[in-house]
Amino acid sequence: MIQVRSYAKINWSLRVTGKRADGFHDLETVFQLISLHDTLTFTESDRLAVTCDDLTIPTDDRNLVVKAARALGVDRVAIHIEKRIPSGGGLGGGSSNAAATLMTLSKIFSLREPLEPIALELGSDVPFFLAGGTAYATGRGEVITPVPEAPELPLLLVLPKERVSTAEAFRSLRRFSPPLGIEAYRDMSHFTNDFEEPVFARFPQLRAWKEKLYALGARWAAMSGSGSTIVGAFAGVSSRDAARSAFPDVRTETAAVLRGATRA
Ligand code: C5P
Repeated sequence: MIQVRSYAKINWSLRVTGKRADGFHDLETVFQLISLHDTLTFTESDRLAVTCDDLTIPTDDRNLVVKAARALGVDRVAIHIEKRIPSGGGLGGGSSNAAATLMTLSKIFSLREPLEPIALELGSDVPFFLAGGTAYATGRGEVITPVPEAPELPLLLVLPKERVSTAEAFRSLRRFSPPLGIEAYRDMSHFTNDFEEPVFARFPQLRAWKEKLYALGARWAAMSGSGSTIVGAFAGVSSRDAARSAFPDVRTETAAVLRGATRA
């Protein structure tokens, strides 16, 4: 039996720079791996069997863990997913599970195939999870350059009940942003998220929560990915924990910035 953590991500910044001929969009983003995680347990089995403690998550061929195992040709393993990362929250939970499955099965079965191309077929965010840490990314999100590690600011995640479909969020964009280039991201004042405008227009409460995080002392606050999670980064654990208690009616999680690569 092997247990691995499958970590979530946030986006420090996310610009959508154009529509591509293949139907996807080009991005310019800064990804950050964080400590909030699902746990995947791999055990021997005579067939491929995926289970999940969250019964709202499909465990058939729609599940990215199933797709990842099939993409590697592995059909003799049971994988149990303990879900902590909400889906539809812009935290990359499914993509992270897929990357963790690719890395773990590749190790268990001593596979030699490069994982990056398989990862990108599974989803645009999956290649980042093979790398981890803090990363600047372009293309669909797979052209990855590691950048200096982010400061270890304690994070508060506000997890609204409203879920956002990534495909719908892309369709709701009214304009594209020119890329700023990697150097611009040395300066936090350049961090933006192009999905905030359309998603906040639909769910005004999310904008209010972002503003509330700033009012509670956050050094930085923004939506993650295409939403709906709102993240605040605080100078210390005590101000972060005080802010958490100001959100009694919505699910919140605390997390830490994870530094360095996680690949075994
Ligand atoms: O790649 P992934 O499966 O995560 O993408 C989900 C949907 O989001 C895609 O089907 C596409 O509509 C949109 N998307 C996009 N450009 C990207 C990433 C995602 O248009 N770079």
